[in-house]
Amino acid sequence: MASAPVSFLLLFITTVLLPSSSSSPTSQPSDVFPSNKPPRFLGKHSHPIKPNHQQYRYETRFFSQPLDHFSFLDLPRFRQRYLINTEHWVGPSRSGPIFLYCGNEGDIEWFAVNTGFVWDIAPRFGAMILFPEHRYYGESMPFGSREEAYRNATTLSYLTAEQALADFAVLITDLKKNLSAQGCPVVLFGGSYGGMLAAWMRLKYPHIAVGALASSAPILQFEDIVPPETFYNIVSNSFKRESSSCFDTIKKSWSALTSEGRKEDGLRQLSKTFRLCRKLKSVQALADWLDSAYSYLAMVNYPYPSNFLMPLPGHPIKELCRKIDGSPEDSSILERIFNGVSVYYNYTGEVECFQLDDDPHGMDGWNWQACTEMVMPMSSDRNTSMFPAYDWDYSAFREGCRMDFQVTPRPKWITTEFGGHDIGHVLKFFGSNIIFSNGLLDPWSGGSVLENISETIIALVTEEGAHHIDLRSSTMEDPDWLVEQRATEIRVIQGWLDNYHRKMKATFNM
Ligand SMILES: *[C@@H]1O[C@H](CO)[C@@H](O)[C@H](O)[C@H]1NC(C)=O
Ligand SMILES: *[C@@H]1O[C@H](CO)[C@@H](O)[C@H](O)[C@H]1NC(C)=O
Ligand SMILES: *[C@@H]1O[C@H](CO)[C@@H](O)[C@H](O)[C@H]1NC(C)=O
Ligand SMILES: *[C@@H]1O[C@H](CO)[C@@H](O)[C@H](O)[C@H]1NC(C)=O
Ligand SMILES: *[C@@H]1O[C@H](CO)[C@@H](O)[C@H](O)[C@H]1NC(C)=O
Repeated sequence: MASAPVSFLLLFITTVLLPSSSSSPTSQPSDVFPSNKPPRFLGKHSHPIKPNHQQYRYETRFFSQPLDHFSFLDLPRFRQRYLINTEHWVGPSRSGPIFLYCGNEGDIEWFAVNTGFVWDIAPRFGAMILFPEHRYYGESMPFGSREEAYRNATTLSYLTAEQALADFAVLITDLKKNLSAQGCPVVLFGGSYGGMLAAWMRLKYPHIAVGALASSAPILQFEDIVPPETFYNIVSNSFKRESSSCFDTIKKSWSALTSEGRKEDGLRQLSKTFRLCRKLKSVQALADWLDSAYSYLAMVNYPYPSNFLMPLPGHPIKELCRKIDGSPEDSSILERIFNGVSVYYNYTGEVECFQLDDDPHGMDGWNWQACTEMVMPMSSDRNTSMFPAYDWDYSAFREGCRMDFQVTPRPKWITTEFGGHDIGHVLKFFGSNIIFSNGLLDPWSGGSVLENISETIIALVTEEGAHHIDLRSSTMEDPDWLVEQRATEIRVIQGWLDNYHRKMKATFNM
């Protein structure tokens, strides 16, 4: 069995950063680049834990959606999958709330089982639970199959955040009509890209949802709103805070990798050192694999053992650094690195050899989204980052997108459509009822909202939190800060619902 990166949003497109080595001044001395793979939740070789139906009960349904909500062309429709649980719902007569998780870039069942918070709190709110799937992921494929949906830029052009939000809006409106539940308030939830969707949906469809909990939602990771080094600096600091020698070993490893790869028979030797199933095709492929491990570890640096992307111990970065620092005295840098990343890729000890996800042209939904709307500039600072130095190069990125998808990105579209610049002022006067929750260990936190904007647009920030840990189900090992954070979220959501009910009552009594 072999495993490879699974993840959340990554940002680089394959061809963008590939070789051209010495032509880039920042590529010295290592000649490799930070990950050129857009981060994804479900990598090709990932082994996410199969949904456990005993744990959460839901019914799976399908709903017919227009392919294009924004034109009146007579286009084919597609079936959107959604999961529903009404066990605890107190129903329309008591205006029972509807908790809607905004499905993101992957199979919705996987998000459902990794979003225990919604399941945990639904009973006390008497809430219905809904998990609609994002179009072009899981089983919600336009054109009848994944193969057809991902054929080319024409068939993929309906894969956008705007269409996904419209899917949610149309679905919930129709469902409420079917259940005579028009008076039931909807609360949105989302983590990561799903959190971005939840926040944007509250802003775009205030008549449909009373509020949104947007966890680890990097809605500011666009254009120049935050510095492009932010993401890799946070990853690097997560390693440095555990051990500066661990940070140094990783920082030095890229040039060790390059010089090893340059040797005669170097690629074969590297394949052996890293116990790869097949001979390495390029040093960059190995660099990407290592980069993925570090970036994803920073996202899932949870204080207790978890299974989100991979089976991992609690405090996995501490574990990784312990392996790197604790390798036998005479270990080479690369042997130390191998021992370290084994914590990520082989924690269960069941992997016989490592399979690199080295098909750079694999069609992936997030790659398409990153090449159209979701252009998130990323750099790696030569001093503060442990990754190879890299300056964001938009024209190289654009060329990669043209090559992979025959599409030209629109880097300013997201802020035009949803805002982002001067968000403090804009949301203060024109928005309400959004919680932005973030853990500062999460590399995506740097692109999120970390300060309270108004009475009703609030930021819940935890020093020790990682990628949307608050959305996970509560456990016996939860630290106090996490228990407290969730309690605040529950209180705030209760406040939105109380307000809604007060207003309804006032209207009826008029
Ligand atoms: C994409 O494929 C469809 C179906 O095969 C075809 O009609 C369309 O012209 C293609 N578009 C491009 C841009 O190649
Ligand atoms: C509402 O009911 C109609 C008619 O039975 C059905 O076709 C549709 O899928 C239902 N809507 C949802 C969201 O399930
Ligand atoms: C994974 O871990 C097990 C147990 O430590 C070890 O026997 C095996 O060789 C490791 N696999 C790889 C590819 O390193
Ligand atoms: C990086 O560090 C070097 C050496 O310490 C220093 O000269 C340089 O100014 C630093 N660059 C930045 C961008 O901080
Ligand atoms: C924002 O306000 C809430 C209370 O409404 C508070 O719990 C939280 O700590 C504040 N966040 C920040 C980042 O100050």
